[in-house]
Amino acid sequence: MNGRLLPSLALAAMFLVAACTRDSVDPPPAGHTARTPVDLAGPWYFPQMTVPANNPTTLEGIQLGRRLYYDPLLSTYGPMAGRSCSSCHSQELGFTVPTPPSNFLNVLPHVNLGWSTNFLWNGEVQGTLEDIMRFEVEEFFQVDVNLLRNHPEYPQLFQAALGTSSITQDDVGKALAQWFRSMISSNSRFDQYLRHEIALTPSELNGMTLYLTETGDCFHCHGIPLLTDNAFHNIGLDSVFTGSDQGRFLVTGNPMDMGAFKASTLRNIAQTAPYMHDGRFATLEEVVEHYNSGVKPSPSLDPIMTKPGKETGLNLSPQQKADLVAFLNTFTDQTFLTDTALASPF
Ligand code: HEC
Ligand code: HEC
Repeated sequence: MNGRLLPSLALAAMFLVAACTRDSVDPPPAGHTARTPVDLAGPWYFPQMTVPANNPTTLEGIQLGRRLYYDPLLSTYGPMAGRSCSSCHSQELGFTVPTPPSNFLNVLPHVNLGWSTNFLWNGEVQGTLEDIMRFEVEEFFQVDVNLLRNHPEYPQLFQAALGTSSITQDDVGKALAQWFRSMISSNSRFDQYLRHEIALTPSELNGMTLYLTETGDCFHCHGIPLLTDNAFHNIGLDSVFTGSDQGRFLVTGNPMDMGAFKASTLRNIAQTAPYMHDGRFATLEEVVEHYNSGVKPSPSLDPIMTKPGKETGLNLSPQQKADLVAFLNTFTDQTFLTDTALASPF
């Protein structure tokens, strides 16, 4: 799918030395100075995570990133003043909020982004988590590092995490990137089913069959296990495109990208309403009805949406639609949504 993943295999092997899952992440003992490597592998059916050589994941780095994420000190200027990252990305809602903030697109969830290489709805930032964090820190929040340098605790925390107390915007981004890698959801009922730990109900199983076969066709863009193909598609929400609805076209200028957006992950999807880049659908039933009967034609429409036999939509029965929604609900991961290691440290 993409060449970036190849070097990560060698890198990930290096980090296997100190195996330690996020579940066992505890604060370092007092007086602790050496950095503690953390291996953030998902379950066996997850791909290897890409970790850049110049920012290996450590316990201290994750904890610093977590603190920065929840600290309003990070934003001091302009319209974001006094806001923490968490003010728009709330854990119990899969790190989203119930209403898109004014002048923004719908909030994207923070989950399993350690496996992502395309960021934001239109993929304006591509690369590693370090790349998107550079954007968040320098352009979106315009973080004032002097506030961190003069803070009673941060210099020491940066020293412990990154071996520097001079604190640049780049350092802030690196710590945040480490924290984001630790935001892993892999214990939904669907994961438990994949691991043969539980059974799904007949309705959920019917929904899974629809999802994973040509009948519902969801798997093409929301495949297992990440429930996103990490790519962009026009799924026929509109026929005419203006403003931010032009999506990926605004980044590439390619007419075939008109109206295309990042296929967002469906992990914890029951928690992250409203849906789509502009939050136009309030419920999963409305989303399914879009795929079933609402797809609008345009030259850049993804061919998957109008395959032979599907020209008028999926033609699902009311029971099939209900089963599909039941299956989408199995993506809810209560462990992730309530994990105290992901909650505010304040
Ligand atoms: C005012 C609300 C708000 C605040 C505060 C906020 N975000 Fe976001 N975040 C959003 C919205 C809206 C999007 C989707 C924007 C888009 O794609 O155009 C988003 C998207 C993201 C993404 C991309 C996710 C993906 O799947 O591509 C990342 C990463 C992210 N935010 C990190 C952060 C970090 C780090 C902070 C703090 C420095 C932060 N956000 C603060 C609203 C916010
Ligand atoms: C051709 C690729 C493709 C297929 C097939 C597809 N999706 Fe999507 N899906 C996307 C894209 C792209 C988005 C984001 C679109 C946007 O916001 O403009 C999306 C968004 C969603 C969302 C909202 C996500 C959010 O965070 O708001 C849900 C729910 C969803 N899809 C479910 C499904 C289901 C269920 C199916 C099968 C019936 C399906 N999708 C089939 C590409 C696809």
